[in-house]
Amino acid sequence: MNIIVCDNYQELSVMAGDIMAAVVKENENCVLGLATGSTPVGAYQELIKKHQAGELDFAHVTTFNLDEYYPMAVDNAQSYHVFMQENLFKSINVPADKIHVPDGSVEDAQAQCEWYDEQIEKAGGIDLMLLGIGENGHIGFNEPGDSLECGTHIHKLTESTLQANARFFGEGEQMPTHAITMGVASIIRNSRKILMLVNGVKKYPILKALQEDVVTTQIPASLLRLHPDVTVICDKAAFYGEA
Ligand code: F6R
Repeated sequence: MNIIVCDNYQELSVMAGDIMAAVVKENENCVLGLATGSTPVGAYQELIKKHQAGELDFAHVTTFNLDEYYPMAVDNAQSYHVFMQENLFKSINVPADKIHVPDGSVEDAQAQCEWYDEQIEKAGGIDLMLLGIGENGHIGFNEPGDSLECGTHIHKLTESTLQANARFFGEGEQMPTHAITMGVASIIRNSRKILMLVNGVKKYPILKALQEDVVTTQIPASLLRLHPDVTVICDKAAFYGEA
């Protein structure tokens, strides 16, 4: 696990945008794994800038998002479908039929999970998987526990995640208690390269724990130590614990 420390969030975002852009330039048919949350927004803005400057074409790119709340209507303002449209897709040219975000509106969630894994496999896996990390060490919505599920599955969110994500929900808006998420094994097995972004002093304890030479399901992100090509880009606040 290679850790790069940037001065601040802006620098982290530029570096992440450059790494993602390089993957797209190297292979116009590449498959990108994408995350939501506040961390990747700056990197998405960098990709948009490059696209709008005519430097980056997404016409043949395929994307797979990590997760979606369940249950969640696709057009709900809190859905990750809408988040991705607003923060990336509406400003670049990935064709709609090459965009994949788990559908939280389906009745048969199990069938949706199986379908999602099949689509990733059909696409030939993921060239670059972009990840954030929860304060409790989750990746996607794989929450700490005695065991972790391998494939895409439905997961109950922990109290810590419900609290951390409550900031995205307005007053009176009910936050779903479950999510559909790629499993840790799907992330590790299906991704050729993994790029994790970590910023802010709140992530200092978990980033420190991640640097221990230990793998534990109590820190799902620690399983990334089993992957041969993981780059973590963090800011100084997350690395040194100073705001
Ligand atoms: C989002 C996701 C989550 C977030 C994590 C960090 O698709 O999978 O694991 O990456 O909760 O969220 P932020 O970036 O908001 O701190």
